[in-house]
Amino acid sequence: MSATAARAHAPARGAVRFEHVTKTYMPRNGRPGTGVTALDDVTLDLPAGRITGVIGRSGAGKSTLLRTVNLLERPTSGRVLLDGEDIATATGPALRDLRRRIGMVFQHFSLMASKTVWENVRLPLRLAGVGAAEADRRVAELLELVGLDHRADAYPGQLSGGQKQRVGIARALVQDPEILLCDEATSALDPETTHSILALLRRINRERGVTVLLITHEMGVIQEICDEVAVIDGGRVVEHGPVWRVLSAPAHGTTRALLHSFRRNSAEELEAEVADVEHGGGARLVLRFDGLRPVDVAAVVAHLQHDAGSPVQLLASSVSPVQGRPQGHLVLAAQAPDAGALLERARAVADRVEVL
Ligand SMILES: Nc1ncnc2c1ncn2[C@@H]1O[C@H](COP(=O)(O)OP(=O)(O)OP(=O)(O)O)[C@@H](O)[C@H]1O
Ligand SMILES: [Mg+2]
Repeated sequence: MSATAARAHAPARGAVRFEHVTKTYMPRNGRPGTGVTALDDVTLDLPAGRITGVIGRSGAGKSTLLRTVNLLERPTSGRVLLDGEDIATATGPALRDLRRRIGMVFQHFSLMASKTVWENVRLPLRLAGVGAAEADRRVAELLELVGLDHRADAYPGQLSGGQKQRVGIARALVQDPEILLCDEATSALDPETTHSILALLRRINRERGVTVLLITHEMGVIQEICDEVAVIDGGRVVEHGPVWRVLSAPAHGTTRALLHSFRRNSAEELEAEVADVEHGGGARLVLRFDGLRPVDVAAVVAHLQHDAGSPVQLLASSVSPVQGRPQGHLVLAAQAPDAGALLERARAVADRVEVL
């Protein structure tokens, strides 16, 4: 069996727990009470082997939260536990071991410009005192994993942004960590490259069982690869749960606002979207799906068509699976003799129905 196949069912590793974590940045020579509270009593679990996304606006405290995991920031109060062990109390060899168990990927890659791809990925191993043959074996394996084995001798300046991030990911994984921290890892990349990097992170998560904490301000990133999402606002976690559930029924205003600017699917926005689509007249309905049931678009249209007794036209569709549960909307035009009956039928097949 190849190494990859052996890892296809890798067991989940590395659970993280934030317990009442507060972080106040004090200005230099600051008077008491003048600090910035970046995290305010955050309690949150990152299940082992899952991808948890943390989303929030700029300044919400996302990076501060992520950086408490590898002690780039120390909580002012509260604890961060790795598999039940308080990481702040680790010192000496325990601290070194802890750092090995946590890899980090940065927004701007943080590669050494004067070193080749190979040397950049190998550097953490050299610092950790891993023997040359073992180090070379691991670097080769990782560069193959991220699809850059053919660019081992290139310098970062000769690579695209997406390739640089692949090097960053290989370097983060080279010590076989249990936890991968990604702070806006795709924010500097175009949409297509973002997809390919997110797909790579997903694969790594599945094949190696690595727990991923991913920070982003983009709901698209959350929808694309996360299992769980926590929404952070003003240093507090205001909402947390499985992605499909939070996206289908956001409970907090901040979540709704972030989702709204991502989906652009209010009645007014849909009205504008279909304004120029020609149709045979009649009522225009918006059918919304919250991931609570399977959705067969053709069957929905046929169902209403049968009732309306005249053609039902599909004007717009955005139904796509979130964690395998279809969410989104259909905009339909139907000439129905009995508009009330049509609405009733629509309500039977969709979670919410509006008339445009
Ligand atoms: N080293 C620091 N010293 C003082 N204040 C800081 C420091 N780092 C962050 N802050 C403040 O803490 C708050 C949270 O910052 P943080 O960087 O965690 O936010 P963020 O959610 O990652 O924002 P962004 O999306 O812009 O990266 C902000 O008000 C920020 O100004
Ligand atoms: Mg940040």
